Amino acid sequence: MSNLAPIRAQAHPATTALTGTIRVPGDKSISHRALMFAALAVGTSRITGLLEGEDVLRTAAAMRALGATITTDDSGVWSVTGLGLGALQTPDDVLDMGNSGTAARLLCGVLASHDLFAVMTGDASLRRRPMRRVIAPLAATGAVFAARPGDLLPLAVNGAAEAMPLTYRLPVASAQVKSALLLAGLNARGITSIEEPEPTRDHSENMLRHFGAHLTIEPLGSGRLIRLIGQPELNAADIAVPGDPSSAAFPIVAALLVAGSRITIEAVGLNPLRTGLFTTLQEMGAALSITNGRIEGGEPVGDITVTASNLRGVDVPAARAPSMIDEYPILAIACARASGPSRLRGLSELRVKESDRLSATLALLRANGAAVSLDGDDMVIEGGVNRLGGGAVETRMDHRLAMSALVLGLAADAPVQIDDARFIETSFPGFVPLMQGLGATIALAGAAA
Ligand code: S3P
Repeated sequence: MSNLAPIRAQAHPATTALTGTIRVPGDKSISHRALMFAALAVGTSRITGLLEGEDVLRTAAAMRALGATITTDDSGVWSVTGLGLGALQTPDDVLDMGNSGTAARLLCGVLASHDLFAVMTGDASLRRRPMRRVIAPLAATGAVFAARPGDLLPLAVNGAAEAMPLTYRLPVASAQVKSALLLAGLNARGITSIEEPEPTRDHSENMLRHFGAHLTIEPLGSGRLIRLIGQPELNAADIAVPGDPSSAAFPIVAALLVAGSRITIEAVGLNPLRTGLFTTLQEMGAALSITNGRIEGGEPVGDITVTASNLRGVDVPAARAPSMIDEYPILAIACARASGPSRLRGLSELRVKESDRLSATLALLRANGAAVSLDGDDMVIEGGVNRLGGGAVETRMDHRLAMSALVLGLAADAPVQIDDARFIETSFPGFVPLMQGLGATIALAGAAA
């Protein structure tokens, strides 16, 4: 975090409609993967639209420390020159992955099948997040991991000199775990075979093909079986990163809730394994339409237009969770403003995000007058409350809680305050000015976020 002191922020109930045409920063998941895959390929890959948020900058720094050459120019194009699979070297210092679970977990996969030694750490939030889900299956490559009790960061790894391929059924639907195993399998001799119980975002699979790897994907029950042939020739390839649908979610929900609003967000990634929120909002009665659908860099992209709408409560099935796992805090805001009750099912994975998002979302809503409870792993939100807002929200080093609370403030009856806006920089640099440009009133106490 570049600013050492917390930056408080307050969002005021909107007095005018939100209007305009905008773009949101590049997709975080695709940006991490673009840097890692390009660093493992031979030659120079050019990446446009890369998310220049703190999380992704940590991945860039780590791949540099491991031997890749990574530069950026004034036009925002990133160039990554890799030396090929197996060529990464022992870094001189500890790899600090900041706030980013994706960076830390995917990098464990890269390190496991390289003959090197590395130590990894992160900020206080990341040092609380479980790493066992990646280091346990990755040990079968021959890599040796040593972590803090509880399988927490910091951890050290001696990567395998001759990595074994992996055969693994994921116990939880997690694209991070799947991607870590695929990254390890890339430099293992033989076929790495992964079963996932539910389909999760497939950006790694798309990008592996883009760089020339051979993999097959078959349906298996309600999930998928993915098989990757190890040690392919990975050749440099250019990548255009689409706008992040998980970032687009915030202005979209704000525009749905603020009377009279109409906004368009151009070039948003629309991978069907990421669009559960948009389906859910449409079920709630949102006027949300997609135009100009196209494929860019192997991923579906389109422009999203939303108009303020009267939303109804919704029942979201657990099976939809992987396609909107990061969107529950902002969906909960929409549900609090909807008429009628909502039930969001099967949210146990929210407990291990940047914060315990299940308890943090509950606290956020309760502090602002919403009626919300937990029923096992389901969140139940009453909706239809007349007066919302006026609360102070602890954001717990979690960017998505910070943005969700500010959106609530725009759509509430009294201002909503957050204790720290700095973590927004991890995924959505420029969020506050972008929202101000649409007509929102958000005040920062201290430096600009
Ligand atoms: C991500 C996968 C998801 C998501 C995270 C990004 C990825 O995590 O929450 O923000 O890029 O693979 P899980 O794999 O833990 O579900």
